[in-house]
Amino acid sequence: MITQVVVSFEAATNVMRNKGVAQMSFVEVAGVKVDTRHYIGGQRVASELTYTNTSPIDNSFLGEISRGSKTEADLAVAAAKKAFPAWAALGAAGRGALLLKLAELVEANIEPLSQIETMDNGSLLRSHRRGVMPRVAMNIRFFAEWAMNNLHHEAFETRGHSNNISWDPSGVAVLITPWNAPLMLATWKIGPALASGDTVVLKPAEWTPLSASFFADLTKQAGIPDGVFNVVFGFGREVGADLTAHPDISRISFTGSVPTAKVIAHAAADNLTPCSFELGGKSPLLVFEDADLDLAAELAVEQYDNAGQVCLSGTRLLVHENVADAFEEKFRERASKLKQGDPRDPETDIGPQIHKVHFDRIKGFVDRARAEGQSIVMGGEPNAELDGLYFKPTLVRNPAAGSEIVTAEVFGPVLCMQSFSSDAEAIAMANGTEFGLAAVVVSGNRAHADSITKELVAGTIWVNCFFVRDLRAPFGGSKKSGVGREGGNWSFDFYADVKNTVVSPNGWKE
Ligand code: NAI
Ligand code: MG
Repeated sequence: MITQVVVSFEAATNVMRNKGVAQMSFVEVAGVKVDTRHYIGGQRVASELTYTNTSPIDNSFLGEISRGSKTEADLAVAAAKKAFPAWAALGAAGRGALLLKLAELVEANIEPLSQIETMDNGSLLRSHRRGVMPRVAMNIRFFAEWAMNNLHHEAFETRGHSNNISWDPSGVAVLITPWNAPLMLATWKIGPALASGDTVVLKPAEWTPLSASFFADLTKQAGIPDGVFNVVFGFGREVGADLTAHPDISRISFTGSVPTAKVIAHAAADNLTPCSFELGGKSPLLVFEDADLDLAAELAVEQYDNAGQVCLSGTRLLVHENVADAFEEKFRERASKLKQGDPRDPETDIGPQIHKVHFDRIKGFVDRARAEGQSIVMGGEPNAELDGLYFKPTLVRNPAAGSEIVTAEVFGPVLCMQSFSSDAEAIAMANGTEFGLAAVVVSGNRAHADSITKELVAGTIWVNCFFVRDLRAPFGGSKKSGVGREGGNWSFDFYADVKNTVVSPNGWKE
């Protein structure tokens, strides 16, 4: 097995050398050099084929990225499998020391990571600097420390026998991640997987490969042993499919769309590989008659964050009929102040959509809603003052029940607003989709809010707030929004092999 890996690396490197003249292996982004080749077994490996990566900001060229195939999927899984025993044997403290070093390196590189991510996915530079990249470091640090200090080693006694629970490393975890918050979402998985003692093969989304590549260099600098962390680039239906169907992997963790989750579940079925899925949503934001309407409007406008490309976004504004007009006025006043433009400009609130394909998808939803006669009271079209992928913040008022715009995940700056006349109706509307990721409740009365949250089906409910996230808390979706929960112990329960050792009081010779 070991010889095979080495020979294959040689072969891959030769391919790279042969094609080296035609294929650039680095791209310079905002003054930073980023490798465009896979990171496998601690080495850079090029594919024969590449695909073109562009920036959503201005469609500028961001490199020819190695386009992985079964060859690279096999190489990466073999490298991770080879590295597994030693990484597992290091123990939580040994791994933790290296992971804490990695977290420090992320903190020392917040500026280049922010620049790279903004160029590649078009999210706001100021968000990356202030919030997102510090949280990337936090994701690594939190799970390293949790594995060292907080795993709940409970001991139950059964007729004098002790039950001893342990969380053992499980093997090679394949992580498949989306483009909307590339490194943030990847490190939610990388942190606990590596801290558990699993080794990792990450396949980032094809539209946003660069931050993962730069991060791979940081793992090397941190001294994470070769093969413990691997990155392969390429298309989901190609190398993604090969990775998820691989017989030598122990876990699949995926964040993305429901249709892709179904394909992955089929791929995993042959090997019965356990899957964790964080999927889409069409979450409700409920505004009750007793709500602070200024707070409600502020929270509603926040749903346009990241140009609406957030799985948790409360895209269905459900407002009590007695306050609907007053709420709408406050909402539109605030929304009209949002500044759309270049995500590198600190004044910008809404940047571009990720890609022309996705932009057209969003526009398609809105155009079809218009053709159906739905009332689009704000936005509804590309921003004509800006060239490129900028879609105006949009509000659809009173969409017909069951229509596409109010049931499907648009994943863009498109909100729907509907009214209700009773709590029972509000709850039925809130729960009336196939999703159950999140819900936002705005109410001025605690007992009232409690009576509502009890009835809502969602993985996370925010009351009079949005996006407050604690890594100790469970995170995930109900119904079609996901399978399993991540965060704190829930992450370790997934990535580790949970083991119970029952020890008798009898039979001891000493
Ligand atoms: P997607 O679910 O197709 O892609 C997410 C990841 O899965 C990417 O890394 C992709 O390469 C990979 N993938 C795709 N097919 C695969 C396969 N057969 N095997 C293994 N991996 C595979 O999402 P896409 O097409 O980028 O976006 C479509 C829609 O999905 C969005 O408009 C949005 O509604 C939803 N979405 C939800 C996200 C969330 O955070 N919950 C994130 C991204 C997309
Ligand atoms: Mg890109």
